[in-house]
Amino acid sequence: MVSIIVLATTNANKIKEFREMVKDFPVEIRSLADFGPIPPVVEDGETFDDNAYKKAHQTARVLGLPTIADDSGLVVEALDGAPGVYSARYAGENATDDENCNKLLEALKGKSNRKAAFQCVLSVAVPSGPALTYEGRCEGVIIDEKRGNSGFGYDPVFYHEGLGKTFAECNMEEKNLVSHRGLAMAELTAEFDKVLKWLEQRLFEEKPPKPDHEEFEHNDWSK
Ligand code: IMP
Repeated sequence: MVSIIVLATTNANKIKEFREMVKDFPVEIRSLADFGPIPPVVEDGETFDDNAYKKAHQTARVLGLPTIADDSGLVVEALDGAPGVYSARYAGENATDDENCNKLLEALKGKSNRKAAFQCVLSVAVPSGPALTYEGRCEGVIIDEKRGNSGFGYDPVFYHEGLGKTFAECNMEEKNLVSHRGLAMAELTAEFDKVLKWLEQRLFEEKPPKPDHEEFEHNDWSK
């Protein structure tokens, strides 16, 4: 039986939310906060799928445990899908959310097509490689100034027509009902019993997974 699944994040909100969603299943959800430092995963994929899979698979291999990882971002129609996988670093490597929003508003100045969507891919991987994928997409428009103080990232400029406000003007419950991440999570948890069976089968077919550190740089514990 699959008894532990790792959620490849240290984000306390994501962990709490996911534990709540799968609380009736016989499985323990651990997060990266429950382990010592592990080598960081370089998110250099060209798609959300690539990055989610890379994060899930590498973490599963290092820890020797089935792992769920997500990758998400904003795609803007008039910008040919940008910022896409570069959403977190659109305005530069260590850009703040505010700088990213400002760059986006600047790039869309004078453009009439304001259509955008948040996309999220969840990957469920076992140490030997096979994975399941779940996706969520949330449509909206980019308004021309920031509104609201909640949330993070592009929330202040992302207006959701159904809610009649920006994501930064919503509380977490409102946002989760329609958001890309909420939808992908809901899709995964709706068939979580099948996911557990699938994991069980994969893990049973393989030799017990051994943590694999070979491909990674070792931590320098002396620092
Ligand atoms: P991550 O893959 O969840 O870390 O998201 C990557 C980047 O996409 C974030 O740093 C944000 O800039 C943007 N992003 C993803 N999800 C959201 C969201 O729900 N609201 C606002 N921005 C988001």
